[in-house]
Amino acid sequence: MFRKYVNNCVFALQHGYRLIDYSSAYGFEHLIGKAIKKSKIPREEIIITTRVSNSDQFSGNIRNGFFQSMKKLGVSYIDLYMFHWPVTNCYLETYKEMEKLYQEGYIKILGVANCHQHHLEEILKVCNVPPAINQFEVHPLFTQKPLIKFCQDKHIAVEAYTPLARNDDRLRRNRVLQEIAEKYNKTIQQVILKWHVQNGIIPIVRSSNLKRIIDNISIFDFVLSKEEIQRIDSININSRLRYDPDNCDFTAL
Ligand SMILES: NC(=O)c1ccc[n+]([C@@H]2O[C@H](COP(=O)([O-])OP(=O)(O)OC[C@H]3O[C@@H](n4cnc5c(N)ncnc54)[C@H](OP(=O)(O)O)[C@@H]3O)[C@@H](O)[C@H]2O)c1
Repeated sequence: MFRKYVNNCVFALQHGYRLIDYSSAYGFEHLIGKAIKKSKIPREEIIITTRVSNSDQFSGNIRNGFFQSMKKLGVSYIDLYMFHWPVTNCYLETYKEMEKLYQEGYIKILGVANCHQHHLEEILKVCNVPPAINQFEVHPLFTQKPLIKFCQDKHIAVEAYTPLARNDDRLRRNRVLQEIAEKYNKTIQQVILKWHVQNGIIPIVRSSNLKRIIDNISIFDFVLSKEEIQRIDSININSRLRYDPDNCDFTAL
């Protein structure tokens, strides 16, 4: 299983992917480090993202946790560093510790994940370096327009996680998506990824299937019309598939 994991990551890098999204909470940072080395892609071409785990936030182990991540990844800087969740009563302190590492030159871009508007407002009140990116759940069943607008107004780029809604049946069977996919001779998933990109969102997609890894990056040879983007926008039913940061158990995540 571990070999497949490394090989898939190498395959993706060798087929044009340059952003790796990871978290210390996922537990296998050393495999990402292995894949980066094995790919022979120059380190400076790869955007490595990793995140502060909730357990490190609870124990205040931000600085040590960061250096452990760098060691496991086998790198001397992290491109994009975020906290994984805005853990209540911890995340502002966590962000300040992350800022110190940024100011010391170990991090190129500071980001956050799973922040609602109120979390961002609290961070913006106390930070010296505003977050450049907020990563949260976005897909056609859950378009998150108000939060995206808030981020974009504050010059915070949006990364969409679970961008395909984990291939949810309600999207695979959706008539609008089927029709648009047919028109461009693309898959529904490619249409969804293109919808993200044309909405100014960075989709963070996951696949362990080699064909789908290639499919998911083969979305730059067609352009959706404004009307098609609006039709996909209107699929929204506010269906959140992952955890709500205002209503979850951070100790279990
Ligand atoms: N910050 C956070 O709290 C957070 C939370 C969740 C996720 N994330 C990040 O976001 C990434 C993606 O999120 P996710 O895994 O939840 O959701 P996702 O990317 O929407 O869905 C992944 C699922 O879709 C399938 N899939 C991928 N491409 C496909 C295609 N072209 N056609 C059909 N099926 C396809 C994959 O199956 P196959 O493998 O079989 O292709 C996999 O089961 C994660 O890997 C992680 O890096 C971050």
